[in-house]
Amino acid sequence: MTEEYCTELLLGRRSIRRFKPEDVSDEILYRVIEIARYAPSARNSQPWEFIVVRDAELKEKLAGIHAGAKPLRQAPLAVVVVCDPRKSPVSYMLDCANAATYFLLAAHALGLGTLWIQALRNTDEIRELLKIPEGRVPVAIIAVGWPDESPEPRPRRELKEITHLNSYGEPYIK
Ligand SMILES: Cc1cc2nc3c(=O)[nH]c(=O)nc-3n(C[C@H](O)[C@H](O)[C@H](O)COP(=O)(O)O)c2cc1C
Repeated sequence: MTEEYCTELLLGRRSIRRFKPEDVSDEILYRVIEIARYAPSARNSQPWEFIVVRDAELKEKLAGIHAGAKPLRQAPLAVVVVCDPRKSPVSYMLDCANAATYFLLAAHALGLGTLWIQALRNTDEIRELLKIPEGRVPVAIIAVGWPDESPEPRPRRELKEITHLNSYGEPYIK
């Protein structure tokens, strides 16, 4: 594992909104979820679970929850990251966001494309669709498939704008 490979992996991930029709095997999906489990979590609480949605009707309903979810229509499957706040009362959102990010990066390492779809405005609807028990929170829907586009990187804020030295407002980069 070279330094160059690792940095390229991190810099090369993109949100993918166009997918090829080919399926993604369970074998490869298991591998991605296996890796996502290694995300850091408060007290190693691991408050996450993953629902793999392959059912066409359910996937179509998820794709219709808001305008930004539409790209899921094309993807062969979705993975919904579900969080249990009782396992990590203070940090469950962060823990599960870490797992989702690990998922995106692991998928990218294996050549898959992903899109993180906002779930937090539609938690009741998603809970009902996927029969998620009360008290558990669907924090992210991830569209997964083989990429059919290579988007340019989205713009990033300048380092100068987002860094400080010792106290807030003191420039780190002059
Ligand atoms: C919490 C969260 C919610 C997002 N929701 C959506 C969404 O609903 N639809 C969408 O197309 N992209 C969504 N995105 C993807 C972002 O738009 C994308 O990550 C950002 O524009 C940067 O582009 P990149 O992922 O290609 O680097 C979401 C990303 C995050 C982290």
